[in-house]
Amino acid sequence: MLERAAGVSLTLNGAPARLAAPPLERLSQALREHGGLTGVKVGCDAGDCGACTVLVDGEPVCSCLTAVGQIEGCAVETIEGLSPGEDVVGRLQRAFHVHGAAQCGVCTPAMLLAATALLRRNPRPSEMQTQDALSGVLCRCTGYRKIIDAVIDAQGLAGEALPVPPDAAAVGLRLPRLDGAIKISGAEIFGADAWPTDALLARAIRSPHHHARFFLGDIEAFQRAHAGVAAVFTAEDVPGENRFGVIRPFADQPVLAEGVVRFRGEAVALVVGEEGAMRALDLSFFPVTWDILPALTALDEATAPDAAPIHPLRPGNVLTGGRVVRGDVETGLATADVSVEGEFETAFVEHAYIEPEAGFARRVADRIEIQACTQAPYMDRDDIAKILGIAPQRVRIIPTAVGGGFGSKLDLSVQPFIALAAWLLGRPVRMVYSRTESIMSTTKRHPAAIRAKIGATRDGRLTAMDFVADFNTGAYASWGPTVANRVPVHASGPYRMPHYRARTRAIHTHLVPAGAFRGFGVPQSAIAQEQLLDELAIKLDLDPLEFRILNALEAGDATVTGQVFKEGVGFKACLEALRPGWRKAREAARVFNAAAKGPLRRGVGVAGMWYGCGNTSLPNPSTMRLGLKPDGRLTLFQGAVDIGQGSNTVIPQICADAIGAPLALFDLASADTDTTPDCGKTSASRQTFVSGNAAFLAGQAMRRTILRLANVGEEAAIRFEAGFVVIEGAGGERRVNLSALSLNASGFVAEVQETFDPPTTPLDEDGQGEPYAVFGYGAHLAAVEVDVELGRVKVLRLICSHDVGRAINPTLVEGQIQGGAAQGLGMALMEEFVPGKGENLHDYLIPSIGDMPPVESILIEDPSSIGPFGAKGIGEQALIPTAPAILNAIRHATGVRVKHTPATPDRLRAAILALRNENGNG
Ligand code: FES
Ligand code: FES
Repeated sequence: MLERAAGVSLTLNGAPARLAAPPLERLSQALREHGGLTGVKVGCDAGDCGACTVLVDGEPVCSCLTAVGQIEGCAVETIEGLSPGEDVVGRLQRAFHVHGAAQCGVCTPAMLLAATALLRRNPRPSEMQTQDALSGVLCRCTGYRKIIDAVIDAQGLAGEALPVPPDAAAVGLRLPRLDGAIKISGAEIFGADAWPTDALLARAIRSPHHHARFFLGDIEAFQRAHAGVAAVFTAEDVPGENRFGVIRPFADQPVLAEGVVRFRGEAVALVVGEEGAMRALDLSFFPVTWDILPALTALDEATAPDAAPIHPLRPGNVLTGGRVVRGDVETGLATADVSVEGEFETAFVEHAYIEPEAGFARRVADRIEIQACTQAPYMDRDDIAKILGIAPQRVRIIPTAVGGGFGSKLDLSVQPFIALAAWLLGRPVRMVYSRTESIMSTTKRHPAAIRAKIGATRDGRLTAMDFVADFNTGAYASWGPTVANRVPVHASGPYRMPHYRARTRAIHTHLVPAGAFRGFGVPQSAIAQEQLLDELAIKLDLDPLEFRILNALEAGDATVTGQVFKEGVGFKACLEALRPGWRKAREAARVFNAAAKGPLRRGVGVAGMWYGCGNTSLPNPSTMRLGLKPDGRLTLFQGAVDIGQGSNTVIPQICADAIGAPLALFDLASADTDTTPDCGKTSASRQTFVSGNAAFLAGQAMRRTILRLANVGEEAAIRFEAGFVVIEGAGGERRVNLSALSLNASGFVAEVQETFDPPTTPLDEDGQGEPYAVFGYGAHLAAVEVDVELGRVKVLRLICSHDVGRAINPTLVEGQIQGGAAQGLGMALMEEFVPGKGENLHDYLIPSIGDMPPVESILIEDPSSIGPFGAKGIGEQALIPTAPAILNAIRHATGVRVKHTPATPDRLRAAILALRNENGNG
């Protein structure tokens, strides 16, 4: 904690203090490491993300850009020092909690500090003033709208105690997150926030080249020359398999490269030592030489007939492919009166969660324990066991809070390094990725090259679609097979498509591995398919929204895999819900453009989506355990990692109602591979649907168990009182004294465990079958304003309608929709990662608070009989239609069809000029 003898004097969180740190040290570092104030988050160390915001003399500053020496005599406030007793703080915290303004929560301390500074000087800020005041802090989860709402709403709130869950049925209520209080206090522990005091620090030596042979020099001499370095590990030190990968049959990525690197950022060695020495160490002195080899970085280079294979057993650099065929696509296109075709390209997209990967590992006797940020604790456990050459039961994964994941934290990052070092050294080892390291080495959204053709009859009915896509999967497999298999099932969109052929390939290049990112390739295919549908509507002179409604898939229709859902297909309702807004916005754009004299033009676009919840035709179980304690409280062992989406709240809501118990009685035992059963990974929009179903079944089983205690039938009602359950049945009321019952080994008077695995069937060689038990559906409307001279696009408004089956918690569903829409907006307009360039958050742009327009969410509830209380997933669904809706709006405003995303100003300006030239208006 704070030392009294050395450093600078300041007022810290209201009390005089001395901060014992060198004057040139970053204030963020000093507050976290010396002051123990880990509510100060570090997302970039470069002044880009604002997560490190603290108040210095009442003003928000980036503490990563402030030297300790600069704060002598200043008053510094961190989230830990904000007192709910201060009126402004109490109101803000309550408003953030009630509005669901904290999702993962890693940006929340900074947002609250910036908002506190604003409200202290201006108790009634406007929306614009709020956006200005918070503009220095990035949030990747929320889409900012609930944060803005919270700050504005805080004006009218009293700073009273946070609301508690009600006694009534919980499903369908706008309940604040059960884990919300800790998020707004800044006390939540993320990957970098906890470490044993004797932990060593690990840093990786990474390739600066896309493809190279490497030669290690005299490592012992390096170690001798650098005091404090405890060990250097290379591939030879890996005791088990030097391979990992999320899909076992494709596992191909070495923990530490063996003589050759296949992407820039690949690790070749790990240096481990005492914290201070490691921070000071200049890794450029590490003895390694590189023999640069030709790199295949583009899809056409990697698939050229003479391209050298990146992996010997994958000829043509094809990792794998996918295929769905229905009907006869040639005949279908031949019978079309009108057809359109196009080629589209999308970019690498970086996840840009605000929390870089971090954690620590320690050896406990013959076991290894890892506490790190992850979306997939059981998958981590099994892969680490293979790497160390030990049984999975000897690995314990304790996920920390996750400061955003969006798919990338399904893959291993720091875990193999810290596990290896802690295992071999017998001391705890900690690792925290820098922003650059995170961007250069972790998975991305696959860039895609797509060619597609769609036909329709004169009266607007779709006849056929032919779709071909290559996805740049980078150097190692990661989730490439999943993308290749999922896209052909989805590439038609949720439309009746009598004849269909979709073929995909995942192609290796010498670039950073592409993996899972919200939608597994479907956002890319929707950019092509929804833009072509728009072209088709234009060609047929049909209203684009009505054209989609005409072709919308409905209950009883066959999908392109031949699957027929008899209920729960709410896509048409999603489109119809947009109709009033669509007509108004199109008319407003027409009037605006008719009067426009300057360079601004307005447009309105629409796009639809569907997304299958869970794995594609593969087992996908979740298991929930539930115990009843003698005091009448219930413990839910919930291994579904909440990465901000809200499963820590939604799943207990489902379980509570399945029993008929108040949510307030629930205690949550969060994911820990030693104590919680396997709930699978947090991905593919599966947790509400799959783990929610497991919780529903566990709740029902507990209810039956309780009824058996009283020996009454299923129709009896249950009431919980302190230490008792009261059962009212036909025979009257029975009170069961829980403290009189015997306890099992876990200390419960009753315990149940239930599993749910969604019913699917394998796909045949034509991709026919039932790949998902449930799809979610949605449609977005985007209104944009384009500066046709500068090529700049401003999104004015989004209306997002989603069929979620049943909104278990509408506030959290809206949060997912707004956050997904923000990421879709970024994908459409600004996000493009170029390996080797822009490995930071000032070159790689994500939407800031000023980029997000108002978002209207419309929740359609067309229940699925297989979903818990009818619920479907929403996580990935929310992102998919935003980009194509924006691109269709740009087409409406300018006449330009964007073929290469993102539609950056330079690209759009060039396309506008090209169109003018084509039309002879150059
Ligand atoms: S950590 Fe300081 S701005 Fe990102
Ligand atoms: S809630 Fe803002 S980054 Fe996650």
